[in-house]
Amino acid sequence: MHIEPFVVEQWMNAHETTATWNLAETCVHSLTLGELLDLGGDVDGVVRRLRETWLGYGDIVGSPRLRAAIAALYGERITPDHVLTAHGAIGANFLALYALVQPGSTVVSILPTYQQLYSVPESLGADVHMVRLREQDGYLPDVEAIRAAADERTSLIILNNPNNPTGALIDEPTLREIVEVAREHDAWLFCDEVYRMLEHGPGTTAPSVADLYEKGVSSGSMSKSYSLAGLRTGWVAGPGDVIRRCLEVRDYTTISGGVLDDALAAVALEHIDAVLERNLAIVRGNLARVDEWMAREPRLRYVRPRAGTTALVRYEFDVPSAAFCQGMFDFNGAFVVPGVAFGEERSFRLGYACAPDVLEGGLAAISEYLRTLEG
Ligand SMILES: Cc1ncc(COP(=O)(O)O)c(C=O)c1O
Repeated sequence: MHIEPFVVEQWMNAHETTATWNLAETCVHSLTLGELLDLGGDVDGVVRRLRETWLGYGDIVGSPRLRAAIAALYGERITPDHVLTAHGAIGANFLALYALVQPGSTVVSILPTYQQLYSVPESLGADVHMVRLREQDGYLPDVEAIRAAADERTSLIILNNPNNPTGALIDEPTLREIVEVAREHDAWLFCDEVYRMLEHGPGTTAPSVADLYEKGVSSGSMSKSYSLAGLRTGWVAGPGDVIRRCLEVRDYTTISGGVLDDALAAVALEHIDAVLERNLAIVRGNLARVDEWMAREPRLRYVRPRAGTTALVRYEFDVPSAAFCQGMFDFNGAFVVPGVAFGEERSFRLGYACAPDVLEGGLAAISEYLRTLEG
C-alpha cells in the first residue's frame, strides 16, 4: 500500500520546535492544565475525581460522560451511542475513512484542505475526484462542480467545514444542496468539523452534516476550537452502523482513549461557554490585527476567514511557496506553511490564533522578510 507523504505535518515536524515566531500552528493558543481547571471552577472537586480515577483502559468507546458532552454539540440525531472517541481528529478521520472508503469506488473531495482527507482515501484504493475551491468564490464549494465530479461509483463525498487552510465557512443552504448531491448517489457525506464552534460572527455556527443528513458523518476534536491538543482526544459522530465499523477498525489501532484525557475533555466541554468565550476573543482580536497588517502590505491579499484559526495569504512575488517559507524561516525564524502543502502555489497558510504577542512579533518578522524580497 502506498500513501503520499503528509506535506503539512512533515513541514510542522521539521520546524515547529525551533521557530522563533510560530504562525503555522492551527490550535487556538493552548490552555495549561491549571487554566482549564480554573475555567471549569470547582478545582478541588475535579482534582479529587482525577485522583480517584482508575488507570485501567477505561470505557472502551469513551466515557458516557464525555460522549454525552460531545453528543450535546449536535442535534437530536446524535446521541452518546452515535459517538466514538478517537486519538484526535486525525485518528477520528482515519477511522471514518477506513470505515467508509470502498476500494475501486469514487470519492469526491475538496481542495485545498487537510491532506489526510484525500491521501488516505487514495491509499485505500479509491479514485479521488478533487473539486477545487477557488479564490474568486471565497473558497466556497461550487455545488455543480461537486455534482459533476460524482459518478455512478461515488460512495463518499468529503468536506472540511470550517476549512483549513482558508477559514471559509459553508452556510447551511449550500450544505443542504451538497446533501442532495450525496443523496442522489446514496453516498456518505463525511465532514471534518474540527474548527466548528469557532465561527467568528455571532449566530454563524456551522451546522454539522451529521445533523443534516441520515448518512452524514462528522469528526471533531478538543485540539483547535477548544485549545486542548495535548489531550489528543477527538471523535466520530454519525449513524450507528458507521460508529460500529469505526470501532471495529479502532480495536486494531487504539483499544481505548486515555482515561485522564477523557476526563479533562469532559471538564472542558461541560464548560464550553467559558472555553469558547476565551478562544473567540483570541481569534477575533488577532484577526482584527491581521486585517490592519494586511492593509499595510500591498503585495499580500486574502479572502478574510469567517471561521477557524487560519487564512490562506497570497503573495505577489515570483518565488515558489516552499522557497518563500524556508527562506523566511532561515532569515528570521518566522514560520508559516507553504501553500504547496495545500496545492496552492504563491501563497502561505497563516495561523493567527496564537498568543497575541507571538502574532505581533511574527507579523513584523514577515514584513521584515518581505522587504528583502522587494530588493
Ligand atoms: C482539518 C484538520 N483535521 C484534523 C486535524 C488533526 O487535529 P487533531 O488530531 O489534533 O485533532 C487538523 C490539524 O491541523 C486539521 O487542521
